[in-house]
Amino acid sequence: MKITLTKYPLHRTACDAVVVTHFEDDSRPRGEGYALDKRTSGLIGALLKDGDFKGKLFETSLLYTRGLITSKRIIVIGMGKRSECDAERIRAVFSKTARTARDLRLRSFAAAIDFDGAGPGPSDAARAAVEGVLLGLYRFMPYKTGDDDQKRDPGKFIIVGEGQGLRHAVETAEIISKAVSLTRDLVSNPANRLTPAALARKAKELLTGRGVNVTVYDQKRIQKIGMNALLGVARGSDEGARLIIMEYRGGRGKERPLVLVGKGITFDSGGLNLKPAEAMGDMKEDMAGAAAVIGTLRAAADLGIPAHIVGIVPAAENLPSGRACKPGDVLTSLSGTTIEVTNTDAEGRLVLADALTWAHRYRPRAIIDIATLTGGCIIALGNGISGLLGTDETLTAMLKDAGKETGEHLWELPLWRDYEELMKSDIADVKNAAGRPAATITAALFLKKFVGDCPWAHLDIAGTASLTKERAYIPKGASGVGVRLLVQFLERWVRRQDGADSHRH
Ligand code: BES
Ligand code: MN
Ligand code: ZN
Repeated sequence: MKITLTKYPLHRTACDAVVVTHFEDDSRPRGEGYALDKRTSGLIGALLKDGDFKGKLFETSLLYTRGLITSKRIIVIGMGKRSECDAERIRAVFSKTARTARDLRLRSFAAAIDFDGAGPGPSDAARAAVEGVLLGLYRFMPYKTGDDDQKRDPGKFIIVGEGQGLRHAVETAEIISKAVSLTRDLVSNPANRLTPAALARKAKELLTGRGVNVTVYDQKRIQKIGMNALLGVARGSDEGARLIIMEYRGGRGKERPLVLVGKGITFDSGGLNLKPAEAMGDMKEDMAGAAAVIGTLRAAADLGIPAHIVGIVPAAENLPSGRACKPGDVLTSLSGTTIEVTNTDAEGRLVLADALTWAHRYRPRAIIDIATLTGGCIIALGNGISGLLGTDETLTAMLKDAGKETGEHLWELPLWRDYEELMKSDIADVKNAAGRPAATITAALFLKKFVGDCPWAHLDIAGTASLTKERAYIPKGASGVGVRLLVQFLERWVRRQDGADSHRH
């Protein structure tokens, strides 16, 4: 979709529909609505007058202008309460508007993103609106054959406004939304198409030539290195494991990096501790953490974020076979820590253990891992909030703030020391699975054994990576969660670092 800025006022913008937002607090058209109302001899006012339109959130009305203004139609859409107008609300409303335009088969629509003093400033509002439009229109279609012409998206979104700040906001939103869409594509891609090797190829395809260096270690190389926890998971599959390393040097000289680690299980059958059929259906999505890391690096590079970032993705398929890792097996991880595999379905933490160990080579300033790690996190927090655990308060606070700003909410769970006992093995240093109580916490406590004293945060996106029911600007299926969150986090990370530097000078 093409997004353009125009200096024409809304009533003179050539398009299939102009969009007017209306708050439920107002009994008359205001701002752009007022101007359009004047031009159309009171069309909008008439709609409001008898209470036919109240401005309730997502309430939508279509008006025909009969030549009074350049556009044939006006879409009036409810914003709900003025006091609730924030970026998240704008994303939601503009997603709804774009879908309405699509349902009407419109080719273009235009809006003056102006909330008459409510909500964020013009640039942030425009960024949110563009994100809402692009993320809301997303669909995963590559395997639908036949004529989809009827469902064509509107090709053009015109924003009334000018200036460097606005243009920058639109470009930022476009880059981020593109990265989220690519992430959703990766997650939605089925496991027969997206094997560990294919995921590595995709990472190269999406990142090389844009300032990100991608290195892929194949099964043989991984064996040489001694990543036996990762190999233990991959053993049951005919598809070899891969370690995907992505380095983006946006920072100054020898700046120590932030390392992002993403769980890349391209299919999780559970292994010999086989999942029941109902639980296995969506397990192609078990690489959503990996996809988020790839998407974040893509956005960071395209935005030119001045930071040194390394992405590490351990990729494997978790299947049962005559060669598969068995319950009770002991693996010697890359760190030397021995792990008793008490449950082959707790495979995510095994592949992450070796990736976290590998991260130390980069002497990271901090490590953040992101993973569809525990079903327990879905029970605890549902589909709207990701789990957050970490060893560094500054890091977790920055992530929580980024969560609020992006609507990708996080809730912190405690890394409670007393529960470490639950991960004790009779015969090895640690076991990989405890029982169901506090499963998200015990999983994180397992990971903690592999992060050393580096500031670290862990994001459990088991509940948020994919939705069974669509939400405002997130269609059913892969959400692309993590990308917008981490990009927003990076903006804070860069600011903080600049602050630290100027302090030193
Ligand atoms: N990939 C799953 C977690 C998951 C479940 C993600 C549902 C998304 C939706 C993970 O590998 C897993 O199987 N975890 C087990 C761990 C248990 C055996 C300790 C779980 O949570 O049941
Ligand atoms: Mn599993
Ligand atoms: Zn898994």
